[in-house]
Amino acid sequence: MNLKPRHLYGFAFVIVAFFNMTAYPQQLPHSFARPHEVAVTHLHLDLQVDFDARRLVGAATLTVDRRTDASRLFLDTNGLDIAKVATVHGTELAWELGQEVAKLGRPLAIELPAAGDQVVISYSSRPTAEAVQWLTPAQTTDKQHPFLFTQSQAILARTWVPCQDTPAVRMTYSAKIQVPPQLLAVMSASNPQVKTATGIYHFEMKQPIPSYLLALAVGDLEFHQLGSRSGVYAEPSVVKKAVWELQDTERMIAAAETLYGPYRWERYDVIFLPSSFPFGGMENPRLTFATPTILAGDRSLVALIAHELAHSWSGNLVTNATWNDFWLNEGFTVYFEQRIMEAIYGRDYAEMLARLTLDGLLDEIKDLKARDTWLKLDLANRNPDDGMTAIAYDKGYFFLRMLEEKVGRETWDAFLRTYFETFAFQSMTTEGFLKYLDEHLKVEVDVRAWVYSPGLPDNCPVVETEELARVAAAAAAFLGGKSPAEISEAFQTKDWTTHHWNHFLRSFKGGLTIDQMTRLDAEFKFTASGNSEITHDWLLLVIGAGYEPGMQKLEAFLTGQGRRKFLKPLYEALAKTDTGLVVAKRIYEQARPGYHAVSTQTIDTILGLNDDDK
Ligand code: BES
Ligand code: ZN
Repeated sequence: MNLKPRHLYGFAFVIVAFFNMTAYPQQLPHSFARPHEVAVTHLHLDLQVDFDARRLVGAATLTVDRRTDASRLFLDTNGLDIAKVATVHGTELAWELGQEVAKLGRPLAIELPAAGDQVVISYSSRPTAEAVQWLTPAQTTDKQHPFLFTQSQAILARTWVPCQDTPAVRMTYSAKIQVPPQLLAVMSASNPQVKTATGIYHFEMKQPIPSYLLALAVGDLEFHQLGSRSGVYAEPSVVKKAVWELQDTERMIAAAETLYGPYRWERYDVIFLPSSFPFGGMENPRLTFATPTILAGDRSLVALIAHELAHSWSGNLVTNATWNDFWLNEGFTVYFEQRIMEAIYGRDYAEMLARLTLDGLLDEIKDLKARDTWLKLDLANRNPDDGMTAIAYDKGYFFLRMLEEKVGRETWDAFLRTYFETFAFQSMTTEGFLKYLDEHLKVEVDVRAWVYSPGLPDNCPVVETEELARVAAAAAAFLGGKSPAEISEAFQTKDWTTHHWNHFLRSFKGGLTIDQMTRLDAEFKFTASGNSEITHDWLLLVIGAGYEPGMQKLEAFLTGQGRRKFLKPLYEALAKTDTGLVVAKRIYEQARPGYHAVSTQTIDTILGLNDDDK
């Protein structure tokens, strides 16, 4: 019982509170917050990182803005152990955790003090907090020290911070984080570049951000500068490679600013996490979190950096108001990413990327339910993660590209620049964007057909690239009987980039025989490739053909990294046959402890494992 007598208003409330069963109605999708009544404007975190207990322990001080005379503050929590809620002067406040809702967790209702606008919540996260991955030294690259990182998007911030976990609310934040002395802590905020002797680090984020951009990483990290306002954090053995790979980062920032206005976050740094990071990248402000699987050694996978950097405008500056508007974040970002890539590497290169994007979209759209192919999603009562398909990203991209092609680049770029400027540090709904579009861009097309209907409208741009047409011809020649050596010679495959190889391998979706696999592997050494994108595509063919020499690599790849984009298709391909499913389960049993919760949730479902038998 956490209610102090002076805060009890009546028998009914007491009884309900006693059973902790109040079902608070949700007023926003995916959140129990009621920001129109009381909004959190600043968060101060004071946390100790306890690697032994796998807990973040301390307090969150929230500053609120009272917008009505409502007396209670509603927060989101999921699996937090709340010890106490008080004023900054130590006076305890009444609070209650409401009924649990699957995926959303439990609302925390706090009775606000009559005077004062701050509440202090003493709490700890649990070892099972879904946002947080606690890695043992053995699970890191350098194997010397433990590591921790968080992933808050979409609704996991509430598993490590009590907050209004909706992208419709923005707050500034500050933090004091205590870690073991030999480790460095970094956040989506102003960051240290060297370790302190005490293990205490202070952070400040003075631009207001939504909760899904709260982020923390702790480990044996080194910093290396890239340019005047950019740098890289990574474990010691990774830093040098990372610096080389990200050499074009300053150019990307400059290109982005030229396109759509000033970079508003001061620094742009990137941290390379251990290989279990479940995403390619995460746009945590000032500090992109990235997978080491883009360190290909040839800078061929840096579009991911362009993407996360682009979110500094689309997403972090102008933010989707709900996860149903996710395309406003990702579609705009894929568009912006393409423009950055084009500015730096040229139109031909960028068009190759766009073509691969279109192929991927056409492939994925076939398997989606019609309603899930509208740009405006309906994720009510679903995990917002379900919205992470090619629709928000790539249908979103082609919608914006279509608009660009209709009105011309100059008009379009001016429109976008003004859009980012006008709505900076605000959230945006799909309807708000369409209204702004109607008012500010003269375009004679049915934009609503893109947003509120399934599939791809007929005016979807077509992407033809000579480069990839030649790659398709090479693949056809191989299927027609040409030897890999002849192909190599005729098509000068020694000059091919990762993207050429991706297109080549994806031409064999119909499947290859073991003999064809053997001949390709002998010439092009796919099984031995160190490139994660090529490896992924090759392993899909390995599974399809039952190509035994590739199976060991498959196992090494599935246990060696935890990026969901790579794991999901591979486990799905394995799960298609009874024997494959047995192999998948055996590998997964070994690999699962190394994956982040975001990935295990997806793979558990693919392999039909529920809570009782995993
Ligand atoms: N913000 C996303 C990652 C995300 C989306 C996390 C939804 C949780 C929920 C990030 O910007 C992203 O899109 N990453 C992509 C890479 C990109 C190049 C398409 C990824 O991780 O694959
Ligand atoms: Zn993104």
